[in-house]
Amino acid sequence: MIGRLNHVAIVVADLAAATATYRDTLGARVSAPRDLPEHGVTTVFVELPNTRIELLAPLGENSPIARFLQANPAGGMHHLCYEVEDILAARDRLQASGARVLGDGEPKTGAHGKPVLFLHPKDFCGTLVEIEEA
Ligand code: CO
Repeated sequence: MIGRLNHVAIVVADLAAATATYRDTLGARVSAPRDLPEHGVTTVFVELPNTRIELLAPLGENSPIARFLQANPAGGMHHLCYEVEDILAARDRLQASGARVLGDGEPKTGAHGKPVLFLHPKDFCGTLVEIEEA
């Protein structure tokens, strides 16, 4: 059911410093930062030949990643995003198999303007999983 790895997301404390690390030290192509107020994050995408790295910094007071950063002050890997062809069909199949979909189970618009859902880490090897309709 899952297809390509769309991105790996890394929470960072200092977005400018993390962007410089990927651009200057690792020599990667990076996007301009983009605020996503509805998700409480600012993102920078690192473009790799076969996938992307999503650098996430908290935006606003109720950012969903603020607690992650408290627990991991140096930042860390936050989630993996897999592409699916039909997000509602994927959700239904996952729920039927007993996997927990976070939130109200309705897809939200993700960082690329496409519908996304998040799956409970305890059901997926301790890793927060995002699925995105590609
Ligand atoms: Co993501």
